[in-house]
Amino acid sequence: EVTNMNRDLLRKYKEEMHLRKKLHNELVELKGNIRVLCCICPIKLEDGDGPDACSVVSVDPQDDSILHMSYQGKATMFKMDKVFPPQASQEEVFQEVQPLVTSCIDGFNVCIFAYGQTSSGKTYTMQGPPENPGINQRALHLLFSEVVRKVPDWDYIIKVSMVEIYNEALRRDLLGKDLHKKLEIKLSPDRSGRLYVPGLTEFTVTNVMDINRVLHFGHTNRTTECTNLSEHSARSHALLIISIHGVNSSTGIETCGKLNLVDLAGSEHVGRSGAEGSSLQETQCINKSLSVLGDVIYALRYKPGHIPFRNSKLTYLLQDSLKGDSKTLMMVQASPMEKDVNETVCSLTFAQRVRSVELGP
Ligand SMILES: Nc1ncnc2c1ncn2[C@@H]1O[C@H](COP(=O)(O)OP(=O)(O)OP(=O)(O)O)[C@@H](O)[C@H]1O
Ligand SMILES: [Mg+2]
Repeated sequence: EVTNMNRDLLRKYKEEMHLRKKLHNELVELKGNIRVLCCICPIKLEDGDGPDACSVVSVDPQDDSILHMSYQGKATMFKMDKVFPPQASQEEVFQEVQPLVTSCIDGFNVCIFAYGQTSSGKTYTMQGPPENPGINQRALHLLFSEVVRKVPDWDYIIKVSMVEIYNEALRRDLLGKDLHKKLEIKLSPDRSGRLYVPGLTEFTVTNVMDINRVLHFGHTNRTTECTNLSEHSARSHALLIISIHGVNSSTGIETCGKLNLVDLAGSEHVGRSGAEGSSLQETQCINKSLSVLGDVIYALRYKPGHIPFRNSKLTYLLQDSLKGDSKTLMMVQASPMEKDVNETVCSLTFAQRVRSVELGP
């Protein structure tokens, strides 16, 4: 009898939880909060004690917005909008970000960041392996199919650019013929107050084949540099910028939206990555731009008067998509390994700070 009653209570609890989450999401939408999701990456055989290696982080079995962690012998808890366990599929993760992706068809500017230390799965989540693509490819495919569905009432043009920010400079036009041309961020001459990058290659996607081709081309151009932590650790921020311009064929109404998908460079601290010389400079630039990102997000809520967008190239380039009625989502990557516990706590603390920010209705 007690077991039955427990089961019944659990069912009711889950129903309530479900409803609460739905209302919470609506509230978040209304207040313009930054949504924060967390992906726990799987334990890798090469750096664990084999298949029995123990994970220091776990998702609460009753509430998938709570992450439990054992840190310095104590149980700690972090609250996110949703936490994905290591076995979550790319499809499940994408389902959570889908509404944000489609809102840029309606003219919103959207930023999705993957944040976390090296090897925590940022590139896996954003780019993904070819046989199991991540958010980048899924987002483009979704946008493309939504746009096709709206024909002939709406006429859309989707343009894609890919650029890297390395050592505080816009370094490489990943879709351009000349990878090494100098790129600068400039104020748009049309007095709209928007920023743009003259000379940055924009590729217009007109079919699904184009999407695959363009992503493949850009991804092969990304750089990697060795550190102790990971053999192929990406030391630059990689941005996939998708702009969508739509015209309604009967009313002539126009919409302009932008989706920025950002695979951030690893967030680990200088001591940890064992970097020296040029790698040390890289790590310092990365740490600086990530802390500016945190400052900007914080200032958006608490000091709307002066937001330090200009303090890093990343925030300067993205300022249109971070302020006003734009939408931001932070995908925090957490490592389940004991040895990474300090970095994981830093990432999760950063995430929790971001989560409290409201960008405005
Ligand atoms: N959810 C996952 N499922 C399967 N494999 C994963 C997952 N997350 C990460 N990996 C694997 O872990 C390794 C490291 O991941 P990834 O390269 O995405 O890390 P990263 O955060 O981009 O690191 P860096 O900062 O060095 O670029 C890769 O081999 C990737 O395939
Ligand atoms: Mg990476």
